[in-house]
Amino acid sequence: MGLMDGKVGLIVGIANERSYAWYIAEALKNQGAKLAFTHIPGEKNERRTRRAIDALGISDPWLVPLDAGSDEQLDQVFARYAESFDRMDYLVHSIAFAETEWLQFGKFVETPRKAYLQAVDISSYTLLAMSKRAKAMMARTGGSIICMSYYGAEKVVPGYNVMGVAKAALECTTRYLAAEMGADKIRVNAISGGYLRTLAASAVAGTDNMAQRNMERAPLRRNVEGSDVGNTAVFLLSDLSAGITGETIYVDCGVNLIGV
Ligand SMILES: NC(=O)c1ccc[n+]([C@@H]2O[C@H](COP(=O)([O-])OP(=O)(O)OC[C@H]3O[C@@H](n4cnc5c(N)ncnc54)[C@H](O)[C@@H]3O)[C@@H](O)[C@H]2O)c1
Repeated sequence: MGLMDGKVGLIVGIANERSYAWYIAEALKNQGAKLAFTHIPGEKNERRTRRAIDALGISDPWLVPLDAGSDEQLDQVFARYAESFDRMDYLVHSIAFAETEWLQFGKFVETPRKAYLQAVDISSYTLLAMSKRAKAMMARTGGSIICMSYYGAEKVVPGYNVMGVAKAALECTTRYLAAEMGADKIRVNAISGGYLRTLAASAVAGTDNMAQRNMERAPLRRNVEGSDVGNTAVFLLSDLSAGITGETIYVDCGVNLIGV
């Protein structure tokens, strides 16, 4: 028997088999969940996401395009989901974006208004935008929503820059959503994941030796693996965590504990 037997939901953020969302999907599937997916628009992106889903052993997936920066596309995706499924038990928000140019050492102070607002829009506001649309489908039986954050929300990580601002907004958005949506039996939590070499991570300056540095600092003396985050996601999306909402849970092998 799986922890997610009988549950169905939407996963936003699989770019390839290294994506955090991929590991979350794998862990959910292993626990019996039914999964629906989005991909960033474009043929090449669709192929890449489809290949990653195929590697999960899921053939003929529910997969639709979504640029989360578009309200129209968000409306379409949630409407199409509602045509295919009678409820949404869980929602995974595992997306972020900021222009690489502003994720370089010493460039934070130069960040233009447009780049700053875009980072906060795609990486933080979209959690609210998706939660709002998921609400009606979750309200009958309750639901659980998670998003992905990073230590740079709390402490300065050189090069993380405007993405740190966006993650701070994301964690705060998680708390405000949790406070309101609890009345509808909807829980909202964030996972603050450790460094994992993904497409998004490679856009940030200084990540080349991040794995080595983290391994030296981490209380667990190792780097985080995708499955560490996947398993925590199952916990947060399943009934095991029924009493937890509005939290940011570190899954980073303890790196955040270490001051110097
Ligand atoms: N990799 C790390 O070290 C790390 C650590 C902590 C948190 N995170 C967070 O995990 C989440 C997933 O990132 P990842 O590391 O798996 O990288 P990834 O590149 O595999 O995933 C990022 C995803 O964001 C999607 N995305 C970007 N802009 C979008 C838009 N406008 N509309 C819809 N989707 C969009 C991309 O298509 C991609 O699927 C992000 O929130 C990231 O900040 C990553």
